Amino acid sequence: MKKHIVLLPGDGIGMEVTLAAKDVLEAVAEEFDHTFTFESKDIGGSAINNHGTPLPEETTSACRNADAVLLGAVGGPEWDNNPSHLRPEKGLLGIRKELNLFANLRPVKGFSNLLHASPLKREVVEDSDLLIVRELTGGLYFGTPSERRNNGQSVVDTLAYERHEIERIVRRSFDAAMLRRKHLTSVDKANVLESSKMWREVVEEIKEDYPQVTVEHMLVDAAAMKLITNPAQFDVLVTENMFGDILSDEASVLTGSLGMLPSASMNEKGFGLYEPVHGSAPDIAGQGIANPLATILSAALMLRHSFHMEHEAQRIESAVNQALEQGYHTSDLHIPGGSRVDTDKMTHLVIDLLKADSTTA
Ligand code: NAD
Ligand code: IPM
Ligand code: MN
Repeated sequence: MKKHIVLLPGDGIGMEVTLAAKDVLEAVAEEFDHTFTFESKDIGGSAINNHGTPLPEETTSACRNADAVLLGAVGGPEWDNNPSHLRPEKGLLGIRKELNLFANLRPVKGFSNLLHASPLKREVVEDSDLLIVRELTGGLYFGTPSERRNNGQSVVDTLAYERHEIERIVRRSFDAAMLRRKHLTSVDKANVLESSKMWREVVEEIKEDYPQVTVEHMLVDAAAMKLITNPAQFDVLVTENMFGDILSDEASVLTGSLGMLPSASMNEKGFGLYEPVHGSAPDIAGQGIANPLATILSAALMLRHSFHMEHEAQRIESAVNQALEQGYHTSDLHIPGGSRVDTDKMTHLVIDLLKADSTTA
């Protein structure tokens, strides 16, 4: 199969982990006789430096013409004091909006050899396998912020949703639940927010179409607590943009590191941009020690969701699992008796295991 992939490495470790995932995709192409072509474009801070804007038009149009997009991460201290329209994060929000990527799927499943790597007790983490479905193009992130008023002493951010925006993400989460354990937790703040009250109404309405799915409503503060005290109770969680952002970093603790969490951001037509959940990690950028697995696992999600290459996706996931089973880990993780390796070594271990696996199949 021929596929054209746009790479948006971005900033900090974004570059390092995107190149790692590209190497893995090239190995998949070779092993399975596919042709993947790649084109790199600027986004975020690197785009500000090279083009004067965090999202150049040529980046958006290259993404529109691609079969799928793989993004690293954006941001860094160099741009932290920029005005809002010249923040790297604007580039990321912009591409999500331009491509209408409203559904952000963030699977959280521990690898068995990393059960010790979580600061949580093994018995708490062991059976956790959940999917956070985060609304990605609405809510607080896309409100209409005010200018500073009242001599700079007042400011407003708005949390707005159209009913149809809630309906499509809720439907998406029911569809996901149907393919899993058929349990949906809708997370909101309906005891306070009007938007959450409408969110609940929509969930109640749509659940009539999915009689096999059990539905639970949970307030976000309680959900934050239950995610780390009893994560096994969750199957699919659906929630608004900001809540989903916060809860997914929290849930990464179950896997041992933020460097392990992949994600898929999809539009209504099934087009996807794939990105690790983590950021540009300025504290370790440029050292070649970042964990590439979140991005490599995001590439696996690309194969699964955009290219319908389930077998190839599983090959990547199995190679990652084997590398961890053999005790290899990057510096963000600890495996007792294991070996600490850098980004490059981890990537090549995954590639070698992937190839070895397919030759014995
Ligand atoms: P971060 O996710 O970049 O880092 C948080 C911590 O996790 C750091 O200690 C970092 O070293 C570690 N970490 C993250 N990914 C890792 C990996 N793959 N391997 C090893 N360690 C890893 O969050 P932050 O420090 O709050 O933000 C830094 C910058 O990244 C900010 O500018 C922020 O806006 C941006 N950011 C971007 C994205 C994105 O592009 N999707 C996501 C989150 C944050
Ligand atoms: C993420 C990030 C982004 C978000 C930032 C960088 C805008 O934290 O992808 O989770 O909040 O969506
Ligand atoms: Mn985040």
